Amino acid sequence: MTLNAYDFLQKMQDRIYFTETDKSLLKFHADWGKEIAPEVAEQFYAYLGSDPEMNAILNHTPDRIHRLRETFVQWFYEMFTGMDDWGNAYAERRWRIGLVHVRIGIGPQHVVPAMATVIRDIDKRLKANDKPAELQEALSRICMIDLAFIEQAYIEVSSAAVLQETGWTERLFKRLIAAGASSV
Ligand code: HEM
Repeated sequence: MTLNAYDFLQKMQDRIYFTETDKSLLKFHADWGKEIAPEVAEQFYAYLGSDPEMNAILNHTPDRIHRLRETFVQWFYEMFTGMDDWGNAYAERRWRIGLVHVRIGIGPQHVVPAMATVIRDIDKRLKANDKPAELQEALSRICMIDLAFIEQAYIEVSSAAVLQETGWTERLFKRLIAAGASSV
């Protein structure tokens, strides 16, 4: 895969205006993040479970949902800590999460509404706990960065698969997409 996860993270931070102030705020509230993570996970999987298609994916194997709860709680907490101050480890972790979803066939139509649900849930909890508006903005930004990773993984993996299978050059592939898009 050609994508450099760390460079991608840097680019997303710049484009989404995720600042040093956001990072400090998140770290300051990391204990609160850890505390609410299991409840957010509960809400999240209740939401996914209410959709027949996503519910079928979740319950594909009996142990999946259990494992997912744990990995979600970890993911949520990492948004507050930044792991290695939003460095290489954070970027690689987010890239891997993206790849896992692509392999299972979970696309934008699943992931975007799911992330919107997380953000809505966070907003409710921030208000109920009298947390500052700045924290809500910081969390929304980091959620958008994490979402960008999953979406980008989808594009990167799909394109790489087509290039590998057909032997086309990237240039030809882009030209075909542009031509295809104009005829849709
Ligand atoms: C806000 C969006 C989402 C986040 C933050 C998220 C988070 C995660 C994380 C952290 C993992 C573990 C990755 C690993 O093993 O390294 C994972 C795996 C997975 N996610 Fe998501 N997820 C999201 C959306 C979804 C959606 C919409 C579905 C659809 C049902 C889904 C289903 C799964 C499944 C089936 C796995 C693999 C579980 C396994 O068998 O190990 N996720 N997710």
